[in-house]
Amino acid sequence: MPTLQNKVAIVTGSSSGIGQSIAIRLAAEGANIVVDYRSHPEGANDTKAKVEAVGGKAILVQADVSKLSDTQNLVDQTYKQLGRCDILVNNAGIEKGADFWDVTEQDYDAVLGVNLKGAFFLTQAFVRRLRDAKLPGRVINISSVHEDMAFPHFSTYCASKGAMRMLTRNLAVELGPLGITINNIAPGAIMTPINTALLGDKPKLDALLKNIPLNRLGKPEDVAGLAAFLAADDAAYITGSTYVVDGGLMVNYHEQ
Ligand code: BGC
Repeated sequence: MPTLQNKVAIVTGSSSGIGQSIAIRLAAEGANIVVDYRSHPEGANDTKAKVEAVGGKAILVQADVSKLSDTQNLVDQTYKQLGRCDILVNNAGIEKGADFWDVTEQDYDAVLGVNLKGAFFLTQAFVRRLRDAKLPGRVINISSVHEDMAFPHFSTYCASKGAMRMLTRNLAVELGPLGITINNIAPGAIMTPINTALLGDKPKLDALLKNIPLNRLGKPEDVAGLAAFLAADDAAYITGSTYVVDGGLMVNYHEQ
Protein backbone atom coordinates (compact mmCIF):
# COMPACT_ATOMS: atom_id res chain seq x y z
CA MET A 1 0.00 0.00 0.00
CA PRO A 2 1.31 3.50 -0.76
CA THR A 3 2.73 5.09 2.40
CA LEU A 4 0.43 8.14 2.39
CA GLN A 5 -2.88 6.54 1.35
CA ASN A 6 -5.91 8.63 2.47
CA LYS A 7 -3.72 11.44 3.81
CA VAL A 8 -4.18 15.07 2.86
CA ALA A 9 -1.20 17.40 2.50
CA ILE A 10 -1.01 21.16 2.08
CA VAL A 11 2.12 22.19 0.17
CA THR A 12 2.67 25.95 0.18
CA GLY A 13 4.30 27.53 -2.82
CA SER A 14 3.69 24.42 -4.88
CA SER A 15 3.18 26.17 -8.21
CA SER A 16 6.89 25.68 -8.99
CA GLY A 17 10.25 24.39 -7.86
CA ILE A 18 10.71 22.30 -4.75
CA GLY A 19 7.06 22.73 -3.73
CA GLN A 20 5.80 21.37 -7.02
CA SER A 21 8.12 18.40 -6.83
CA ILE A 22 7.03 17.62 -3.26
CA ALA A 23 3.36 17.85 -4.25
CA ILE A 24 3.88 15.32 -7.04
CA ARG A 25 5.93 12.99 -4.86
CA LEU A 26 3.46 12.99 -1.96
CA ALA A 27 0.68 12.32 -4.46
CA ALA A 28 2.64 9.39 -5.89
CA GLU A 29 2.72 8.03 -2.32
CA GLY A 30 -1.08 8.24 -2.17
CA ALA A 31 -1.80 11.64 -0.59
CA ASN A 32 -4.38 14.14 -1.80
CA ILE A 33 -2.77 17.51 -2.33
CA VAL A 34 -3.71 21.10 -1.63
CA VAL A 35 -1.72 23.18 -4.09
CA ASP A 36 -1.20 26.59 -2.52
CA TYR A 37 0.01 29.39 -4.76
CA ARG A 38 0.20 33.15 -4.49
CA SER A 39 0.55 34.62 -7.97
CA HIS A 40 1.07 31.84 -10.53
CA PRO A 41 -2.22 30.03 -11.22
CA GLU A 42 -0.73 28.58 -14.41
CA GLY A 43 2.05 26.94 -12.37
CA ALA A 44 -0.50 25.69 -9.86
CA ASN A 45 -2.55 24.17 -12.67
CA ASP A 46 0.58 22.52 -14.02
CA THR A 47 1.20 20.98 -10.58
CA LYS A 48 -2.41 19.76 -10.45
CA ALA A 49 -2.03 18.10 -13.86
CA LYS A 50 1.22 16.43 -12.75
CA VAL A 51 -0.38 15.24 -9.50
CA GLU A 52 -3.22 13.73 -11.52
CA ALA A 53 -0.75 12.11 -13.89
CA VAL A 54 0.63 10.06 -10.99
CA GLY A 55 -2.91 9.07 -9.98
CA GLY A 56 -3.48 11.67 -7.26
CA LYS A 57 -6.10 14.27 -6.54
CA ALA A 58 -5.34 17.96 -6.13
CA ILE A 59 -7.24 21.11 -5.29
CA LEU A 60 -5.96 24.64 -5.83
CA VAL A 61 -6.16 27.33 -3.15
CA GLN A 62 -4.79 30.82 -3.71
CA ALA A 63 -3.25 32.11 -0.49
CA ASP A 64 -0.52 34.59 0.32
CA VAL A 65 0.86 32.94 3.45
CA SER A 66 2.19 36.25 4.75
CA LYS A 67 -1.45 37.24 5.39
CA LEU A 68 -3.03 35.72 8.46
CA SER A 69 -6.53 35.59 6.96
CA ASP A 70 -5.16 33.74 3.90
CA THR A 71 -3.50 31.07 6.06
CA GLN A 72 -6.76 30.56 7.93
CA ASN A 73 -8.67 30.30 4.67
CA LEU A 74 -6.14 27.81 3.31
CA VAL A 75 -6.79 25.43 6.21
CA ASP A 76 -10.56 26.06 6.12
CA GLN A 77 -10.71 25.28 2.39
CA THR A 78 -8.70 22.12 2.92
CA TYR A 79 -11.18 20.81 5.48
CA LYS A 80 -14.16 21.99 3.44
CA GLN A 81 -13.04 20.36 0.20
CA LEU A 82 -11.00 17.36 1.38
CA GLY A 83 -12.33 16.76 4.90
CA ARG A 84 -9.03 16.50 6.73
CA CYS A 85 -5.42 17.63 6.83
CA ASP A 86 -2.58 15.39 8.03
CA ILE A 87 0.55 16.94 6.56
CA LEU A 88 1.68 20.54 6.22
CA VAL A 89 4.69 21.39 4.07
CA ASN A 90 5.79 24.99 4.69
CA ASN A 91 7.67 25.43 1.45
CA ALA A 92 6.76 28.93 0.22
CA GLY A 93 9.87 31.08 0.34
CA ILE A 94 11.42 34.15 -1.23
CA GLU A 95 14.80 35.84 -1.08
CA LYS A 96 15.97 39.35 -1.86
CA GLY A 97 19.65 40.18 -2.18
CA ALA A 98 21.03 43.47 -0.83
CA ASP A 99 23.95 44.71 1.22
CA PHE A 100 22.82 44.84 4.82
CA TRP A 101 23.00 48.64 4.93
CA ASP A 102 20.66 48.94 1.94
CA VAL A 103 17.89 46.59 3.08
CA THR A 104 14.51 48.33 2.98
CA GLU A 105 11.66 47.86 5.40
CA GLN A 106 9.58 46.67 2.47
CA ASP A 107 12.01 43.89 1.56
CA TYR A 108 12.46 42.91 5.20
CA ASP A 109 8.68 42.60 5.63
CA ALA A 110 8.28 40.68 2.37
CA VAL A 111 10.95 38.07 3.17
CA LEU A 112 10.15 37.62 6.85
CA GLY A 113 6.43 37.71 6.02
CA VAL A 114 6.49 34.75 3.65
CA ASN A 115 9.36 32.70 5.06
CA LEU A 116 8.72 33.06 8.77
CA LYS A 117 5.37 34.62 9.59
CA GLY A 118 3.71 32.48 6.92
CA ALA A 119 5.10 29.22 8.27
CA PHE A 120 4.37 30.32 11.85
CA PHE A 121 0.68 31.14 11.48
CA LEU A 122 -0.14 28.45 8.95
CA THR A 123 1.33 25.89 11.33
CA GLN A 124 -0.78 27.42 14.10
CA ALA A 125 -3.99 27.07 12.05
CA PHE A 126 -3.02 23.49 11.09
CA VAL A 127 -2.24 22.53 14.68
CA ARG A 128 -5.41 24.04 16.19
CA ARG A 129 -7.60 21.77 14.10
CA LEU A 130 -5.58 18.66 14.97
CA ARG A 131 -5.52 19.57 18.64
CA ASP A 132 -9.30 20.03 18.73
CA ALA A 133 -9.86 16.69 16.98
CA LYS A 134 -7.07 14.93 18.96
CA LEU A 135 -5.38 13.81 15.77
CA PRO A 136 -1.67 13.42 14.95
CA GLY A 137 0.08 15.34 12.18
CA ARG A 138 3.31 16.14 10.40
CA VAL A 139 4.87 19.52 9.74
CA ILE A 140 7.76 19.68 7.28
CA ASN A 141 9.47 23.03 6.83
CA ILE A 142 11.57 23.73 3.79
CA SER A 143 14.29 25.78 5.39
CA SER A 144 17.76 26.19 3.89
CA VAL A 145 21.42 25.52 4.55
CA HIS A 146 21.24 29.20 5.48
CA GLU A 147 19.39 28.42 8.68
CA ASP A 148 22.95 27.69 9.82
CA MET A 149 25.41 29.00 7.29
CA ALA A 150 26.10 32.65 6.45
CA PHE A 151 24.88 33.98 3.10
CA PRO A 152 26.38 37.46 2.70
CA HIS A 153 24.01 40.03 1.15
CA PHE A 154 20.97 37.93 2.10
CA SER A 155 20.56 38.96 5.73
CA THR A 156 16.76 38.96 5.63
CA TYR A 157 16.73 35.45 4.18
CA CYS A 158 19.21 34.18 6.78
CA ALA A 159 17.25 35.82 9.60
CA SER A 160 14.08 34.09 8.41
CA LYS A 161 15.68 30.67 8.04
CA GLY A 162 17.62 30.88 11.31
CA ALA A 163 14.36 31.69 13.03
CA MET A 164 12.69 28.76 11.29
CA ARG A 165 15.37 26.47 12.68
CA MET A 166 14.65 27.61 16.22
CA LEU A 167 10.89 27.58 15.70
CA THR A 168 11.10 23.92 14.69
CA ARG A 169 13.04 23.00 17.81
CA ASN A 170 10.64 24.89 20.01
CA LEU A 171 7.53 23.44 18.41
CA ALA A 172 8.90 19.91 18.58
CA VAL A 173 8.65 20.30 22.34
CA GLU A 174 5.21 21.93 22.36
CA LEU A 175 3.64 19.72 19.71
CA GLY A 176 5.19 16.39 20.68
CA PRO A 177 2.56 15.69 23.37
CA LEU A 178 -0.14 16.24 20.71
CA GLY A 179 1.42 13.60 18.47
CA ILE A 180 2.51 16.18 15.93
CA THR A 181 6.08 16.06 14.61
CA ILE A 182 7.94 18.93 12.99
CA ASN A 183 11.20 18.79 11.05
CA ASN A 184 13.17 20.96 8.67
CA ILE A 185 14.69 20.11 5.34
CA ALA A 186 17.65 22.37 4.55
CA PRO A 187 18.29 22.39 0.82
CA GLY A 188 21.46 23.84 -0.65
CA ALA A 189 21.55 25.16 -4.21
CA ILE A 190 18.68 23.57 -6.09
CA MET A 191 17.67 24.21 -9.70
CA THR A 192 14.49 26.19 -9.10
CA PRO A 193 13.13 29.64 -10.00
CA ILE A 194 14.65 31.13 -6.81
CA ASN A 195 18.05 30.54 -8.44
CA THR A 196 17.22 31.88 -11.90
CA ALA A 197 19.77 34.72 -11.66
CA LEU A 198 22.47 32.36 -10.41
CA LEU A 199 21.82 29.86 -13.19
CA GLY A 200 22.34 32.62 -15.76
CA ASP A 201 25.60 33.86 -14.23
CA LYS A 202 28.33 31.41 -15.25
CA PRO A 203 31.23 32.78 -13.15
CA LYS A 204 29.04 32.77 -10.03
CA LEU A 205 27.69 29.33 -10.82
CA ASP A 206 31.19 27.89 -11.42
CA ALA A 207 32.42 29.38 -8.13
CA LEU A 208 29.49 27.79 -6.30
CA LEU A 209 29.99 24.41 -7.98
CA LYS A 210 33.59 24.38 -6.70
CA ASN A 211 32.12 24.37 -3.19
CA ILE A 212 29.78 21.45 -3.84
CA PRO A 213 31.54 18.07 -3.48
CA LEU A 214 28.91 16.33 -5.62
CA ASN A 215 29.71 18.92 -8.30
CA ARG A 216 26.18 19.74 -9.40
CA LEU A 217 23.18 21.71 -8.31
CA GLY A 218 20.41 19.70 -6.70
CA LYS A 219 17.18 18.81 -8.44
CA PRO A 220 13.82 19.45 -6.78
CA GLU A 221 13.35 15.66 -6.74
CA ASP A 222 16.45 15.35 -4.54
CA VAL A 223 14.46 17.19 -1.87
CA ALA A 224 11.04 15.65 -2.51
CA GLY A 225 12.09 12.10 -1.57
CA LEU A 226 13.08 13.25 1.89
CA ALA A 227 9.79 15.10 2.35
CA ALA A 228 7.92 11.89 1.46
CA PHE A 229 9.97 9.99 4.03
CA LEU A 230 9.35 12.58 6.77
CA ALA A 231 5.60 12.47 6.05
CA ALA A 232 5.38 8.68 6.27
CA ASP A 233 5.07 6.25 9.19
CA ASP A 234 8.78 5.35 9.04
CA ALA A 235 9.56 8.85 10.37
CA ALA A 236 7.13 8.63 13.31
CA TYR A 237 9.87 9.01 15.94
CA ILE A 238 11.69 11.91 14.30
CA THR A 239 10.99 15.45 15.46
CA GLY A 240 12.87 18.70 16.03
CA SER A 241 15.57 17.91 13.48
CA THR A 242 17.01 19.42 10.35
CA TYR A 243 18.00 17.29 7.36
CA VAL A 244 20.50 18.84 4.99
CA VAL A 245 20.21 18.13 1.23
CA ASP A 246 23.07 20.08 -0.32
CA GLY A 247 25.52 17.81 -2.14
CA GLY A 248 28.03 18.34 0.67
CA LEU A 249 28.10 22.17 0.44
CA MET A 250 27.89 22.84 4.18
CA VAL A 251 30.71 20.55 5.24
CA ASN A 252 33.06 21.58 2.49
CA TYR A 253 35.36 24.05 4.17
CA HIS A 254 38.88 23.58 2.90
CA GLU A 255 42.08 25.64 2.61
CA GLN A 256 42.67 26.80 -0.94
C1 BGC B 1 19.12 29.84 -1.61
C2 BGC B 1 19.86 29.86 -2.93
C3 BGC B 1 21.32 29.53 -2.72
C4 BGC B 1 21.47 28.27 -1.91
C5 BGC B 1 22.92 27.92 -1.61
C6 BGC B 1 19.37 28.53 -0.92
O1 BGC B 1 18.69 28.51 0.29
O2 BGC B 1 17.73 30.00 -1.85
O3 BGC B 1 19.71 31.12 -3.52
O4 BGC B 1 21.95 29.37 -3.96
O5 BGC B 1 20.75 28.37 -0.71
O6 BGC B 1 23.63 29.00 -1.10
